[in-house]
Amino acid sequence: MSQDKFLIIGAAGQIGTVLTQTLRKTHGYNKVIATDIRDGEPGDACFEKLDVLDIARMAEIVNKHRITQIYHLAAILSAKGEAAPLRTWEINMKGLFNVLEVAREMNVAKVFFPSSIAVFGEGAPKDNTPQDAVLKPTTVYGISKVAGELWGQYYWERYGLDVRSLRYPGVIGHQSEPGGGTTDYAVEIFHKAMSGQPFVCFLKPDTCLPMIYMDDAIRATLMLMDAPAEKLRVRTSYNVAGMSFTLAEIAASIQKRIPTFKVSYEPDFRQAIAESWPHSIDDSEARRDWGWEPAYDLEKMTGDMIAHLQMRYAIQNC
Ligand code: SER
Repeated sequence: MSQDKFLIIGAAGQIGTVLTQTLRKTHGYNKVIATDIRDGEPGDACFEKLDVLDIARMAEIVNKHRITQIYHLAAILSAKGEAAPLRTWEINMKGLFNVLEVAREMNVAKVFFPSSIAVFGEGAPKDNTPQDAVLKPTTVYGISKVAGELWGQYYWERYGLDVRSLRYPGVIGHQSEPGGGTTDYAVEIFHKAMSGQPFVCFLKPDTCLPMIYMDDAIRATLMLMDAPAEKLRVRTSYNVAGMSFTLAEIAASIQKRIPTFKVSYEPDFRQAIAESWPHSIDDSEARRDWGWEPAYDLEKMTGDMIAHLQMRYAIQNC
């Protein structure tokens, strides 16, 4: 068993919730310290409340628990970020700098920083967007991710801090709720279908975006973090793909299983954000360097989501 001690920042978020559970299953409950700006369960010795802007508190937690790996998942996402651009920049960038500095000063072995398909914008090919496509994001979230990728690479090259990163597509899972993203619709659509309600989507039916199922997203993260450092030729952030589909396609996939489900469309400002992003991602570097291969396509993901949510909604209705 590894001697690692993990710190999850943003552990109550969409990915943080599942990553914390997965790492605890593998390494043991008390090897994983969950932190979030929201309160944890009272009396949980493996939870610490943390605001990412508070570097002294972050350093205190890393020292107290002798942390060796940090997963920094706290950020304001694309749609919510547009409501308060400067605040978003402050949280996303200052939070990252605090993590990088604490990790460097306290000899943390590895840091994970999530990037996103939001780094792409005008000028990048829409289909099979390559690793090295031009990065001209239109959202403050995307700009913060481009800057974050480069700062991660800088800390690696300048200080030898082992920062690793993935450009997540939209993440779809049954275990937790997303918040503030443009791709959030792909989770909400399932909850509406399962609770017998119609879904009014804020994107147009032909909008195609890259997505990944939660199981694949967590597996990719852990594969990257477990890979030998010398295998990693990308030190900004790896493109990683799961599946790509339009709104109309995911709606049809759900309707195959729930024929009464109804979807209508009322696009808002998030349509422009979605249209600035790729349709699909070329992840050949991740496949080459650390053996990435997704396990879920649209049909397999829809089947699994519905099976899990059916159980949840059945229990709630008991
Ligand atoms: N899921 C994110 C968002 O929609 C993209 O990384 O903002």
